[in-house]
Amino acid sequence: MFDLDQTIKDRHSTRKFLSQPVPRALLDEALALAQLAPSNSNIQPWRLVFAQGGCRDRLQEALLNLAKQQPPYSFGLPSAFQHYRQELGAQVYGAMGITRDDKANRQLAVLRNYEFFGAPIVGIVCMHQDLGVADALSVGMYLQTLVLCLTARGIGTCVEVSLAAYPEIIRSKLNIPPELLIICGLAVGYSDPDFPANHLHINRESVEKNVSFQGD
Ligand SMILES: Cc1cc2nc3c(=O)[nH]c(=O)nc-3n(C[C@H](O)[C@H](O)[C@H](O)COP(=O)(O)O)c2cc1C
Repeated sequence: MFDLDQTIKDRHSTRKFLSQPVPRALLDEALALAQLAPSNSNIQPWRLVFAQGGCRDRLQEALLNLAKQQPPYSFGLPSAFQHYRQELGAQVYGAMGITRDDKANRQLAVLRNYEFFGAPIVGIVCMHQDLGVADALSVGMYLQTLVLCLTARGIGTCVEVSLAAYPEIIRSKLNIPPELLIICGLAVGYSDPDFPANHLHINRESVEKNVSFQGD
């Protein structure tokens, strides 16, 4: 049994992994627990395809080649939210010693997404394309449950929407059928403790900014 509050505090995005493999038994435990996540009409819409070993390496090679030829676009954000991305970039790149003007190293850092930050295993999170927002919410609840169960077992993760920039190459390398929408990736592995950006505490708003109570 794990301390839930502490696990929530311990979870953070890992952006450099050790090559040390993740024991399958621990992954299976976390997957069995995540399967208990709630979902709209209990349809359990999450679909997860893992790539490991040679399959992972081939996926990385294909993604990296493509990302070098066709640099990934940044998913657009409404202007009211853009400053969060800038602040995140300042924190993450700052911890990596990359300045705002250092375009070359920023691009290299972006490409690390397509190496899954060195994680030995990467999951591709999918959902049937005909499902909607409530079902994507169910996938999100599943993913957070999975990530927390992995965190509790000492395993690091990084959710990677960046992988969704190249759905066709992922689809072909992992035989993902056309009816499945590729939502994001999930890098899974042991965190490299010597990488300063793995020890960041990314800022959060106060609860009052996001939550209100309406009374009489
Ligand atoms: C849906 C989603 C997509 C994300 N995509 C990426 C990504 O492509 N690359 C990346 O480095 N981090 C990605 N992240 C991690 C976020 O940047 C991170 O969760 C956020 O900045 C808060 O930091 P923390 O996870 O360390 O608490 C993603 C997180 C979520 C939930």
